[in-house]
Amino acid sequence: MAASPSPVCTCWPGATVWLTGLPSAGKTTLAYALAEELRREHRRVEVLDGDEIRAALSEGLGFSRADRQANVRRIGLVAEVLARNGVTVLVPVIAPYADSRQAVREHHRGSGTPFLEVHVATPVEVCAERDVKGLYAKQAAGEISGLTGVDDPYEAPQDPELRLETHTATVEESVAALTALLKEKGLA
Ligand SMILES: Nc1ncnc2c1ncn2[C@@H]1O[C@H](COP(=O)(O)OP(=O)(O)O)[C@@H](O)[C@H]1O
Ligand SMILES: [Mg+2]
Repeated sequence: MAASPSPVCTCWPGATVWLTGLPSAGKTTLAYALAEELRREHRRVEVLDGDEIRAALSEGLGFSRADRQANVRRIGLVAEVLARNGVTVLVPVIAPYADSRQAVREHHRGSGTPFLEVHVATPVEVCAERDVKGLYAKQAAGEISGLTGVDDPYEAPQDPELRLETHTATVEESVAALTALLKEKGLA
């Protein structure tokens, strides 16, 4: 009996696109705008947004260095499982420490799953002006402390796959840069 032809896979390979940057940099805005664009092309997309996923996955963790690292590691594990199974996973999460982002990258490398680090490089002055959640105002008023980029460290990526300057580029321009990156990597 002749062997039946192997099925042709027309699905896209999965990938994790991690959008790192300061609070109010535009990570969530860009992730959802990119998700909409990719879904229009019938891609399987998940957005693992920082606040929602932290509540679900890291209840009880705070904002110490160790807790922030544990949170990023957990999100990285979930992202890798989804991406390994063909989902394009968009992760708008601050992830302030270079070593924890590197650990997530290496975890992806272990299974040959593409990992793209995107630095949403909005200057802190612009973020503080946007102040979507009122965090910068609260920190300035002394109501909170440990705000990333103000009185808690943010280690900007040295060599990200892409850097987005949202203070000079529109959302549409940034989404175009993200889709161009995916295409360049053979992921779109
Ligand atoms: N060019 C731009 N790119 C992305 N966001 C922008 C831009 N210009 C203004 N914004 C606004 O900045 C805010 C960014 O908030 P958000 O996406 O929640 O940030 P983050 O998730 O990084 O904390 C939104 O209100 C968005 O509309
Ligand atoms: Mg956000």
